[in-house]
Order: sequence, then structure tokens, then C-alpha cells
Amino acid sequence: MHLLRRPRRLRSSATLRSLVRETSLSADDLILPLFASEKVRDRVAVASMPGVFQLSVGELVAEAKSAYDAGVKAVLLFGIPAEKDERASQAYAADGIVQRTVHALKVALPDMLVITDVCLCEFMSHGHCGITRFKDGQAHVDNDSSVELLVQTAVSHAAAGADVVAPSDMMDGRIGAIRTGLDAAGFQETVIMSYAAKFASAFYGPFRDAAESAPIAGDRRSYQMDAANAQEALREVALDVEEGADIVMVKPGLAYLDILWRVKERFGLPTAAYNVSGEYAMIKAASANGWLDERAAVLEAMLAFKRAGADLIVTYWAKDVAQWLAK
Ligand code: PBG
Repeated sequence: MHLLRRPRRLRSSATLRSLVRETSLSADDLILPLFASEKVRDRVAVASMPGVFQLSVGELVAEAKSAYDAGVKAVLLFGIPAEKDERASQAYAADGIVQRTVHALKVALPDMLVITDVCLCEFMSHGHCGITRFKDGQAHVDNDSSVELLVQTAVSHAAAGADVVAPSDMMDGRIGAIRTGLDAAGFQETVIMSYAAKFASAFYGPFRDAAESAPIAGDRRSYQMDAANAQEALREVALDVEEGADIVMVKPGLAYLDILWRVKERFGLPTAAYNVSGEYAMIKAASANGWLDERAAVLEAMLAFKRAGADLIVTYWAKDVAQWLAK
């Protein structure tokens, strides 16, 4: 058969394939989420996320160091406080679990980039991401009073030494308010990585076990986005960009690569994808059953994030990926 075009020609050897490969993945792109808990002595395994633990401050620093040695240069911190209340007091306490962890990390690993998740749900007795009133079993989350607490939280993280704050609450106007609050407190250099298009998703289930942050009643659909909406995602991102976001994030990741692609194309900002807990649990469970090759599946997913426009990838596999890439 005489064919003029033979695409397979460029696939004939590993060397040729590597020369024409369009997308690359590097440990520089990875952010490792870690959970600091005030309630654990060393570490407690998260059942739905094999390989992920709730950590004491000391164990978290050790875990971060081991990731750093593997080539991971950034961590994203979540905190689980001993006490929760209806104003999320421990979210912005100067000696709160996140603030103490940031400080310990900066002392032990000054070059590790420390990103903090800015949200109230882990610190609220009811598990919602803001100030909440319950009426007829419905949760009503008040926007503007919640934003005030988010600003206090972000400023307290910056004061503890956080390099980047990452608001994940989805209240309106929080990026502008946090930028103004940080600047007024003298933290003009603190970067804001906004969870700009964050969808109400079933894929956060295992995270809520890890962070002990499931709402006691109601769901997050009045603040997180409807999975059906792409145009609205672009409007959400546009607002965060106007309000001063330095990095924008799309979350979840794998089921939302179309959103990621549009956000990168439209705004051209550094763009992050969050490879969320449910995506982690799926591949872990299938691999444990021998149904998927974990390493191959994860590297393929990571490459998909990059191909879809992600500059940064938040993933519980960050350390494994860094180690796989180094081999
Ligand atoms: C806090 C927050 C959540 C996640 C990141 N920050 C949970 C939620 O919105 O319910 C989910 C992360 C994951 O599933 O890996 N609001």
C-alpha cells in the first residue's frame, strides 16, 4: 500500500516518540496536600485514601521533608482543630493548628513553598464553609460575614509565614477582600491561589473523612458551582482575576479538563488543577484489586492535566510522581 502520510512513522522508537512529545511533566509542577491534626499523636491513616494520613505537626514536617528530598517543592496545608465552634475561631487563631504548622515548616524547610487552604469548614462545628443559620433542615450560609472571617484567616496564615494562601470557600468577593486585607497588614508579597472554579462534587467524599469536614446537614450547592456550568465557571474565574488572584485553580480535575482548558485559553494565568480525593481513591482502589497499574494510570492522568493547560497540579501522589519521574 502506498501511503503519503504515515503518522506511525513518528512512533517507531522510544527516542523518536520522546523527540516529538508535546507535553512534559516535572516535579516542579507538583503540590502535595498534607493534613495537620491537633488530635493525633503521630499519624492516623485515612481509610478511604490509602497512603494519606492525618499528621501531628512533627510528623507533617517529616513528611514534607521526605517529599522535598524527592523533588516536591510545594505543600498545601489543611488543619483539623481539637475544638470547633460556630465562628471557626481556630481557623484564624494565632496559635491554631495551621498557623503552628506553617511556622514549624518554615523553620525546618525554609525553601519549601508553603500554601495554606483558606476555608472555614474544618473549623466549624456544622462543617459548612461560612457562618451558617439552619432553618427547616436547610443551611443558609451568609456571604459577607463569612468573608470577614476568611480575611482574618488568610492574614493569620500570612503572619505565620505562608507564601501562598488558597481560598477554597467559594464565597463571593473573597479574593478582593483577602487581597485588601493582606495588603493592609503588610503582606503585599503573599500570593493568592484562588480555587476560582470549584464545583459541588461527589469526588470530595474521601477528603471530608481526612479533614473531618462533612456538613452535618445540607450540602454545599448554594456556594460551590453546579457541575453542568462551563460559562459560569469562566465568569467566576474572571471575577477572581479582577479581584487580584495570582494563580487560578479548577477543581475537581479529571472530570473538568474542559473547564481547565477554557480557563487557561481565556486568561493565560498560571493555572492549577486539583486532582481531588475521589480521583485518588478510585485509582488506589482499582490498583489494590490489580485492575489498574497505579503508576501508569497516575502518570497518564498527570500528563492529561498538563495537556489540558495546567501549570500546577495539586495531587496526593506528588511524592510518588516525583520519585517515578526521577527513575
Ligand atoms: C475545603 C476543601 C475541600 C477540598 C479542598 N478544600 C472540601 C470541600 O469543599 O468539601 C476537597 C479536596 C479533595 O477532595 O481532595 N472547602
